[in-house]
Amino acid sequence: MSMLPHAGNGKVSVPDILSRKALSSAASSESKSKITCLTAYDYPTARLLDEAGVDVILVGDSVGMAVLGYDSTLPVTLDDMLHHLRAVRRGTRHALLVVDMPYGSFHVSIEDSVRNAMRLVKEGGTEAVKVEGGERRLELIHRLVEAEIPVMGHVGLTPQSVNAMGGFHVQGKSMDAARQVERDARAVEAAGAFAVVLESMPRELAAQITAQLRIPTIGIGAGPDCDGQVLVFHDLVGLTEGYTPKFVRRYADLANEITRAARDYCEDVRGGKFPADGESYHSTAELGRPVTGGSVKVPG
Ligand code: KIV
Repeated sequence: MSMLPHAGNGKVSVPDILSRKALSSAASSESKSKITCLTAYDYPTARLLDEAGVDVILVGDSVGMAVLGYDSTLPVTLDDMLHHLRAVRRGTRHALLVVDMPYGSFHVSIEDSVRNAMRLVKEGGTEAVKVEGGERRLELIHRLVEAEIPVMGHVGLTPQSVNAMGGFHVQGKSMDAARQVERDARAVEAAGAFAVVLESMPRELAAQITAQLRIPTIGIGAGPDCDGQVLVFHDLVGLTEGYTPKFVRRYADLANEITRAARDYCEDVRGGKFPADGESYHSTAELGRPVTGGSVKVPG
């Protein structure tokens, strides 16, 4: 596992993210002090995002849908997360590294959950964990923070609750539902989380919560008034197939680029155009006539 760079060389830490709350509330909405967060699941992507200056890299359990081909995040295991986390750790030098606790890894008992989070720290090198859920996670978040594990909360649409919620729906639309999301966000803060993801809710509600909390809010489908934004990398670069929600902005069209490159390669190989002579090794020795006939001796 690679070592964390020493503070002072641009490494983003948990206290840095906390301090950005004050900066972003004092500045305009276009402010550069807004927190940027993207997901990554492998070494090369982490390296590129880190070099691009992303503040927080999240190894999301969205890996289940974006990379592993599941139709929800529910099948993702702790070992899956560790596998991807280690690769991302090796590619991350400056960004704060956060990993999702997957479904089932924090639902049995507090002791079991703290042990699982510790594996993500010790074996995966994460600097913080993200836990879905609000009021119900108060005790767990508190215990993780006591165990020196920084926690990012996640309220609103929590994809691990897809069955309980009856689908991936915008949350907090009625007055009662909005108050519940607010209570969830406040509980996460009271438990000691250093930031909270607000997912899929009216921008007005996200703005109210952002104004109330002392910790930064990081929005996804929660409008522009949050203290930061997060997107799934595969949505950002156009690698997601099928439906994409309205809050996704595509900054590249990699799916078409990859398909085009693969088609061109197949055409060139089949047409004898790849590899060209310039892409081949040459010998300066006189190779003479090729060996024909005879039998190849198998050693032993
Ligand atoms: O798993 C994930 O990628 C997430 C983000 C979308 C916040 O939880």
